[in-house]
Amino acid sequence: MNATQLSQLAQSFDLETWSANGLAEIEASLNQWIPPNAPANLTESMKYAVLGGGKRLRALLVLGAFEAGIAHQDQSELAWRREAALRFACAVELIHAYSLVHDDMPCMDNDVLRRGKPTVHVQFGEAVALLTGDTLQALAFEVLTPEHSLIPAQLQAKLCGLLARAAGHNGMAGGQAIDLKSVGKHLNEVELSHMHKLKTGALLEVSVSAGALCSGVTDTALASLKIFGSSLGLAFQVVDDILDVTAESAVLGKTAGKDADTDKPTYVSLMGLDAAKHKADVLLVQANQALFDSDLSHTNALVAIALKVVNRSF
Ligand code: IPE
Ligand code: IPE
Ligand code: MG
Ligand code: MG
Ligand code: MG
Repeated sequence: MNATQLSQLAQSFDLETWSANGLAEIEASLNQWIPPNAPANLTESMKYAVLGGGKRLRALLVLGAFEAGIAHQDQSELAWRREAALRFACAVELIHAYSLVHDDMPCMDNDVLRRGKPTVHVQFGEAVALLTGDTLQALAFEVLTPEHSLIPAQLQAKLCGLLARAAGHNGMAGGQAIDLKSVGKHLNEVELSHMHKLKTGALLEVSVSAGALCSGVTDTALASLKIFGSSLGLAFQVVDDILDVTAESAVLGKTAGKDADTDKPTYVSLMGLDAAKHKADVLLVQANQALFDSDLSHTNALVAIALKVVNRSF
């Protein structure tokens, strides 16, 4: 079976049914782990930023990669491995939610609409938005280091390290810094893909590798999954650039047309709409090829998520 056939197979895979249980568990866990009595009513803005919205693509990638790897493992380890994957799925969504709160602030993209609601700084003020992002970031690492758990300390530390690196200077935050410095500038494709891989790709890639790591896959399978994650991570931001031009704010749940209005370099501004769409399709084939080349057999969910990332309408 080649990568195109793999992708045809995934079209018949019922992603919605597959996702339903995992998503419900993630929502319930996030709800439970946001502290009920944070000082100065921070609980309200934390819940507002995290719950009841978002496609949860990063969490689904963690669960999909976990499923791809777990098939070969010792059943006696299943419970703690699954707990680790669930915790990572929530942690990466917390980091992502924090990145959105800060991304929308007036000092960054100055957006008023997110997930169909007023942005956190519009709703609660800028200082609270800043602190909400800070607390969500720290909470992600609390979630990864539970005090009473069977998850081995070594795995907990490894997951913290992976998430820190994907979120920090050589990941999301570093990419956001390049993004802000690049306003009004022309970036060539190498520079643009570097920015996108950091600001967005890093969190998607780590979702895949961490899910796989929790399942205990071999190094060879992990290497293939990393290629899948990095190709898909870049594809994700290329599609975000495209949707900024082609979609309506009401469907996106955020203000459309912002990139051109604020003179941000994007795949659409670099190569035009059609070439950008083609680029996303090429990256999708590349991602699926990596799965095809791996020795993993339970990859239907991952392929279906990848298709959704590239063919989504919001
Ligand atoms: C939006 O991410 C921000 C980017 C990294 C482009 P998503 O499109 O995954 O946002 P939600 O979580 O579904 O709201
Ligand atoms: C954001 O990129 C990437 C993040 C790290 C949040 P964008 O600025 O393009 O995301 P949107 O379009 O506002 O969701
Ligand atoms: Mg931005
Ligand atoms: Mg933005
Ligand atoms: Mg965008």
